[in-house]
Formats: sequence, structure tokens, C-alpha cells
Amino acid sequence: MKRIILGMAIVFAIFAGVVFYLERPERTQVVVIGAGASGISAAIEAKQAGLSVVLLEKMPRVGGNSQWATGGINGVHSQVQVESKTIDSEELYLADTLAAGHYQNKRHLAQILVEESGEAIDWLSSLGADLTDIGRLAGSRVDRAHRPSGGAPVGSEVMRVLGQQVTALGIDLRLENKVIELLHNDAGTKVEGVLVRNQEGREYEIMADVVVIATGGFGGSPERFVAYNPNLKGYKTTNHAGATGDYIDLVADLPIELVDMAMIQAHPTVEPNFGVLITEAIRGNGGILVNLEGNRFIDEMAFRDVLSAEMRKQTEGESFLIFDESIRMGLSAADTYIRQDLVMEADSIQSLATVLGVEESRLRRTIQKYNGFVAGGGDPDFGRRDLPVQLAQPFYAILVQPGVHYCMGGLPINEHAQVMGLAGDPIEGLYACGEATGGIHGNNRLGGNSLTDAIVFGRIAGQSAVGVNR
Ligand code: FUM
Repeated sequence: MKRIILGMAIVFAIFAGVVFYLERPERTQVVVIGAGASGISAAIEAKQAGLSVVLLEKMPRVGGNSQWATGGINGVHSQVQVESKTIDSEELYLADTLAAGHYQNKRHLAQILVEESGEAIDWLSSLGADLTDIGRLAGSRVDRAHRPSGGAPVGSEVMRVLGQQVTALGIDLRLENKVIELLHNDAGTKVEGVLVRNQEGREYEIMADVVVIATGGFGGSPERFVAYNPNLKGYKTTNHAGATGDYIDLVADLPIELVDMAMIQAHPTVEPNFGVLITEAIRGNGGILVNLEGNRFIDEMAFRDVLSAEMRKQTEGESFLIFDESIRMGLSAADTYIRQDLVMEADSIQSLATVLGVEESRLRRTIQKYNGFVAGGGDPDFGRRDLPVQLAQPFYAILVQPGVHYCMGGLPINEHAQVMGLAGDPIEGLYACGEATGGIHGNNRLGGNSLTDAIVFGRIAGQSAVGVNR
């Protein structure tokens, strides 16, 4: 009898041990939430330093909004920019960034963005990214927006090399795994892990020394962007469907005050029917904007908020973005819009006027006057400083209006990408990077600074995780 009882006790103990083992929460050194450019950059840095990393992505694919970035990634003194002999400086880049943000930026963060930008581009190049074409986006006084040769979209190129690194380093990437809760102490001053729901709906915990929030902004959620900024009611968005501001829910019961949440950028040129972002690089390479009456009405390279506000005042809130063959040839992103059937083509001003439904003499006067400004090197009407080309037939035009593009607000972070608590101390174990963070861009982000922010602060978050685990 004793033997039977002993045997049963042993079986029970083994069974209990197995159950305990299976139910035990997983442990890792770093959890990264979100596999866009910032999250993957953080994961790469941590993994390369030998840490165990789990990279969680709620969508069926990596990339987030970063995948869709088009016009360029800003950087000063990258090898490419130096070789192009562009005269630029950290001071000038910082001044452009702060002026675009109407001086509401957290200056010390903007300064880090600038100082690390060239190195960020060189790092991407070292991973195999082609960022050899340099152009200008609105608000910049020099060419510092890097993109692939021929002017191809930058986001897919950056994500291509980052995705390759995820595979090469064997990072534990889990798609369709959504973080539904941060695990933390009672006071909310220390984050200890995450609760995740996988694609089968099973919930599981991962305990971690460091949790990095890289979930992106909320520009894909009209409910959210209108709630934070009611002026944006009815706006289309350039964002992917997963950009729903998940970090807002995740930190709701932590002592954190989100910053600048009403600061949401409308990109001036979004195709109104399908919400497709039409890259600023078209204007940067010489495109102009005319209203439905056929008149220019603004410096096409003005800051995005200024431009968007002026565009909303035009008839129907719509305008035509006009460019020509030389601009198309230098920017293969434009061919994407042609393939998507968003572009009207015309072989003369006369037929352009017909296609656009504007008075021919008016349009002719507008284009001829603009070409005169290019020839004379100055735009007395609107003060456009950079006048790269005279427009010549054949012409292309796209109907555009402003659309929600980027959230400047988000989690408050310090220079180590630590999320700051209400008491002024970092929340232990919690880091954030990319569009989920706020403060760097003031109330209007400089074109081309989004990917720079993602790479610079993503890498900083990953390096900080290494420091924690040292
Ligand atoms: O227009 C664009 O290509 C967008 C660039 C950006 O948002 O930085």
C-alpha cells in the first residue's frame, strides 16, 4: 500500500512539474512591440549585442508606415551627402527641424536626431540599402533626403535591408501576435513584461528586462485622430490600417502623461479618391501646385502645415500637382502613381488645360510665369527659394488634397529612449521609439525626418537595452 501511495505521489509530482513548466511565463531579455523601422532597429541592436529578443508584430507582415515612406530619409554628413559635395551642417539641419516644428520641439531630442542622422544612413548603407540619390523635401534648405538611385521609394528599400537582418540574426519575430497588456508593478513604475494574444487567440505572458514600445502612431484611426484633433474630421489618411495608436491603451494605467497629442500632421499632397501619398519629392524636384482655377497660390516648398492650411482654402480644398517628363525621369516613385492610374497626362499646355478643366490662357500664363521665375532665379510671387527646372511638355498632373500623415505626439522619452513617468523619473524597463513617441518634431515634422527618427531612436532604444542587461 505504501508503495502504491509513494508511486502515486511521484506521478503527481511529475505531472505537477510538467504543468508548472508549461504554464511558466516565457522569459527574454528584450521584448520589442512593433516591427516597423524603429522596432526592428531596436531589435537588431539588442540582438547583435547578444541579448535574447522577441519581436512582436500584430499585423501579418512587418513594415508599418515605414514600408510606405517615399521621399527620403534625412541625414547630414552621411558618406553619400559628403561625396555629393552638398554644403550642409548639423546647425543648419537642426535649424530646419526646429523651424518646421515652430520651435515646439524638445530641442535636446531634435539635436540627437540631427547628430546621429548621418551615421544612421551609413548604417543602413552598410546593411546594403541603396540610399545614393539625394534630394530635397519641403522645409529643408539643402539636399539631405536620401533615397534609392533613380528616386525610388525609400521605405521599401529600408525595410528590405532591415527585414534581411531580422532573418540573418535569427531574431524571434512573431507576426500576428498583439500585445494587449504591459505587465508592471502595482505603482506602475516598473514594467516587467507583456501579455500577448497570438493568431489563434491564445494569450500568453513574456517576462522581460526591457520592453520597447515601437507601435507607431494613430494616423490610421480616424476615431482617434479626430478625438485628439477635431479639425481633422473628414480627412483621408496616408497611414496603414495597423496605425491605431496601441501604445495609448498599453500605458493607460501607468503614471505617464502623453505629450503633444493634438499635433497631427496633414501631408499636403494626398490623392483624394484612394488616399495615396504623393511624395513631396515631386515638388522638391520641381513640381508646382495650381488650384482648380489654374493659379499658383503658394511656395510649394513651404512647411507642410502652412501648405496644407492654404490648400484647404482653395476651391473644393483641392489642387493639381503638375510636373513634367524631366521630373518623372528623375523620380521613379512617379511611375508608381502612373501605374496606379492616378496621373493625368498631356502633351501640351492646351491639352493639359482640357484634361484639368481649367482655362487655357490662365494655365499658360501660370506655367510661363513660373518658368520665368526659374530662369531669373527667384519667385517674387511666393518666395520659393528652390527652383530646379522649367516645366516643359509633356506634362503630368495629379489631383491632390491634404491628408493625415504623421502624429507628432506620443510617449515622452529621454535621450536614452526611456519612457518618462509623471514624477520625472523614467519608468523602469520601459523604452519607446519612432512615431509612438512625442516631442521631437514640435508641432510640424520636417519632411524626411520620420525614418531618421525611427532609425536613430530605434537604435538608441536597442543600445539602452544592452546597457540594462550588462
Ligand atoms: O512626401 C513624402 O515623401 C513624405 C515624406 C515624409 O513624410 O517624411
